Amino acid sequence: MSNGTSSGRRPVGVRIAGTGSALPARSLTNTDLERLMETSDEWIVQRTGIRSRRIIDRSKGESTSQLAGEALKAALADAHLSPTDLDLVIVATMTAEMSCPASASLVVNHIGAGQCGAFDLTAACSGFVYGLNIAHDLIRGGAYRTVGLVGADTLSNLMDYSNAGRSTAIIFGDAAGAVVLKATDDTSKGVIAQAMHSDGPGWKEIYVPRCVQDFPEGVAPDESKYEHVQMNGASVFKFAVGTFPKLIEETLAKANVKPSDVDMYVCHQSNQRILTAARERFGLAEDKLYINIDRYGNTVAASVPLCFDELKKSGRIREGAKVMFVAFGGGLTWGSSLWQL
Ligand code: UT7
Repeated sequence: MSNGTSSGRRPVGVRIAGTGSALPARSLTNTDLERLMETSDEWIVQRTGIRSRRIIDRSKGESTSQLAGEALKAALADAHLSPTDLDLVIVATMTAEMSCPASASLVVNHIGAGQCGAFDLTAACSGFVYGLNIAHDLIRGGAYRTVGLVGADTLSNLMDYSNAGRSTAIIFGDAAGAVVLKATDDTSKGVIAQAMHSDGPGWKEIYVPRCVQDFPEGVAPDESKYEHVQMNGASVFKFAVGTFPKLIEETLAKANVKPSDVDMYVCHQSNQRILTAARERFGLAEDKLYINIDRYGNTVAASVPLCFDELKKSGRIREGAKVMFVAFGGGLTWGSSLWQL
């Protein structure tokens, strides 16, 4: 972790100056899914806690970068800043419209952010939390003062809404969430502890094949699976239930704080059962680990900032709080970021 004391520079703190989010207009409920595949509202609610999700309509101009731009505009308004105040825009996503340009460049164009830096960060569901650590340390180190960080994903484009894809398609939804991070003279504010990990051999648990060579050894290549998320749900579930508590423990130990010292856990919304298991493991009160998966499903890199925006807007997280952001996902990757707001 950077300590902000690079030679000749005054130490700086980092504050989260604003939050925002954006959702597509169209809902896809469990009842809608019942019409597309052999599933039931009861099965989905029981296994995942999800009741509805939002999905984009490209014909109406909705896309990853459009949602990301709207979320960042909202975060800038919340921070009372204008797009040209940004030094850097980072978009965490695994669903950029094109491999070039980056979604971040489209966002800069969309909101009119001038000539600030722009790049995408790909770490699947962990992307936004990785981004928090990176953006924080860039500011703490003195190189940048105002950074827009967005988590945005539209996995509906990568779903197979037929029986063949039913164990994956029921989970994911589309959304974007954003924060504006800003340098402050108050050095107590910012990241207290962080972690970023990956398991390379675990890549084959969640992948999106594009050609024959992308299929892991032992899996028969199948053209009908191109551009569709292939997920070994049961295996990811097991990984998540084990990794989640270890990650929280590691982060608490680095910061030398107790589970109850953290005011709010803002966790990736992967499956309600995984979140409930983590909450029970640490004996946390129900209102300390936020859950909104019932309304939006698993929105990948957007899920953590979407939760955070809702918590800020409802007044459940205030200046001065200790907040732990936690996520895991494809890669496999997992990461945490414990903040003193
Ligand atoms: O954020 C990225 C990380 N991803 C995750 O965190 C996902 C973690 N995994 C999960 O959340 C769960 O594994 C799922 C919700 C994806 C699936 O639940 P599961 O309990 O692991 O189901 P399964 O895939 O093992 O399938 C169990 C049964 C199977 O039937 P049989 O073989 O036991 O007769 C499936 O065919 O449930 C069946 N099934 C369904 N039934 C109704 C699978 N999908 C569905 C469905 N509706 N949509």
